Amino acid sequence: MIEFKVNQKTCIKCGQCSSDCPAQIITMEDGCPSVTQENEANCYKCQHCLAICPTASISILGYDPVNSLSLKDKLPDSSQMELLIKGRRAVRKYKPENLEPNVMMKLIEVACYAPTGRNARQVRFTVVDNRARLIEIRDEMMAKLVKISSANGFPAGMEFFTNYVNQWEEAGTDFIFRGAPHFLVVSAPKNIVTPVEDCLIALTTFELYAQTLGIATVWDGLAKFVICEMLPEFKIRLGIPEDHVVGYAMAFGKPAVYYSRTTQHEPAGVHIVN
Ligand SMILES: Cc1cc2nc3c(=O)[nH]c(=O)nc-3n(C[C@H](O)[C@H](O)[C@H](O)COP(=O)(O)O)c2cc1C
Repeated sequence: MIEFKVNQKTCIKCGQCSSDCPAQIITMEDGCPSVTQENEANCYKCQHCLAICPTASISILGYDPVNSLSLKDKLPDSSQMELLIKGRRAVRKYKPENLEPNVMMKLIEVACYAPTGRNARQVRFTVVDNRARLIEIRDEMMAKLVKISSANGFPAGMEFFTNYVNQWEEAGTDFIFRGAPHFLVVSAPKNIVTPVEDCLIALTTFELYAQTLGIATVWDGLAKFVICEMLPEFKIRLGIPEDHVVGYAMAFGKPAVYYSRTTQHEPAGVHIVN
């Protein structure tokens, strides 16, 4: 079922696969790693055994270690990561052009490597991959928000939408998607162990990786609020499954602004427990 295979010619019997297995299902039978048939059902499918093996001797779930990326001397250094994290900005000005489809797919492919609770890997990426479609959706959304604004007004706590709607009507200011050509909603089945957390981690990963490709993002709380609370019909319009919880939303595309330096933050709130 899990296709746990060991290349006996190259396995050095170091036992690292067995000791690192979080489900503790790999035993060293006569010095060789193996998984009993009855233990296969307990596999987390995390592939730690494939990842840790120093001689690339283990394949599992049909994955051959030769197709993994090598980590030897390849990780970005800490100053590069610091710059990436501190240099990330919420971008609210975008070029109109669409991203190339292969770039879009690469972003999602990498983001789905984000960790998930119990390795559920059920995060769904609902993407508006072209600007014309997003404009269509935006205009439908705005027409409905204009109606709410001129009828009963917005619910308590959401009165600030009135101001935004006025700006839309007066100047066509796109406060929902900030003029980005693309939009992404991450969702996950309600019944998995950590659906919202999985979505947020995936989107955070998406955002950080996007920067390395020169792609800007903005977390989109307003869109999420509209989709989940004010106009839930857009959950259906976007094709988000009914049994899914929406984790969050993000607009993205090529930036039309450039930031020359990082911002500066107050020190973190830290409490050392004694
Ligand atoms: C959960 C969350 C929701 C957000 N929602 C919106 C939004 O709806 N519209 C928007 O323009 N920015 C939104 N932002 C962006 C924040 O305003 C922005 O991150 C913050 O001002 C700090 O700026 P920086 O991201 O450039 O450091 C959101 C950010 C987060 C983390």
